[in-house]
Amino acid sequence: MSPDDTEQAPPRWTRKDLLGLEELTREEILHLLDTARGFSEISTRSIKKAPALRGKVVLNLFFEPSTRTKSSFSLAAQRLSADLVDIIKEASSATKGESLVDTGKNLQAMGVDIVIVRHQQAGAPHLLARALDASVINAGDGTHEHPTQGLLDIFTMREKFGDLAGKKIALVGDITHSRVARSNIWGLRKLGVEVGVIGPRTLVPGAFKELGVNIHYHMDEVLGHYDVFNILRIQLERQRRGMFPSVREYHHLYGIDQKRLAKMKPGVLIMHPGPINRGVEISHEVADGENSVILQQVSNGLAVRMAALVLTQSAREARP
Ligand code: CP
Repeated sequence: MSPDDTEQAPPRWTRKDLLGLEELTREEILHLLDTARGFSEISTRSIKKAPALRGKVVLNLFFEPSTRTKSSFSLAAQRLSADLVDIIKEASSATKGESLVDTGKNLQAMGVDIVIVRHQQAGAPHLLARALDASVINAGDGTHEHPTQGLLDIFTMREKFGDLAGKKIALVGDITHSRVARSNIWGLRKLGVEVGVIGPRTLVPGAFKELGVNIHYHMDEVLGHYDVFNILRIQLERQRRGMFPSVREYHHLYGIDQKRLAKMKPGVLIMHPGPINRGVEISHEVADGENSVILQQVSNGLAVRMAALVLTQSAREARP
């Protein structure tokens, strides 16, 4: 017997937490996406249940509003047979001054195994992950990262194109405030993708060049260059001052409508993480048109989040 026969392959996922794509390796990203592909099938069953997290407790701890991410994690946890607790900031003791870490420790004392956290402060999930034995999954921290959104976006692109190496993918709009943009950029660059960011100078800082992306301020010059346009929401709630003259002017210069779609590559993918400002960053016709995979992104989110729950929990349990 050779030494290789007795050697066990190292586990391909060893993180108890999923905090961002910046820290993941290419291999970890691909392993999570491959695991998610296996979980896609559960959503097609008439009884949408698997036992992977039976007896485990998942906590949704949301300090900012959410429709997609929170319900997607809830359904993912329930499909894996976990028990689920939901806490939103407005109905929690955070309103009485309790700290995030104290909230987490109290819920962990009740047996919570996985905390899904969305917070307005960048780094809040990282703080919680250091303080807790439970797994922590970042569901969006300020303008920093939204790793499961980045992963489900990449999953959806791979569904269409297979291997993404050499593909050209554009992120359009409010790059400066977008945690989705940062997670996409870190993930896609590790997979060998050419990434461009497009928008007005006030929303596309030149510093993004350091992340290895192309910067474009004139969208009409590059419509035919990219295979995917991932369109980001204009985040008026995070802007401290007007960063463009008017919503009408933004739509005129950067809104994706039928005229711009006609100048893109045939088969181009139109993506949007949601929620959509219809008539601002995207027209009704394009959002609902045949190039749009916006609702496929939402469906794929479930499989990606099932994979994130199972991998982080398995790694937590495998620790010595
Ligand atoms: N894409 C996204 O994060 O949507 P929600 O804010 O509805 O969760």
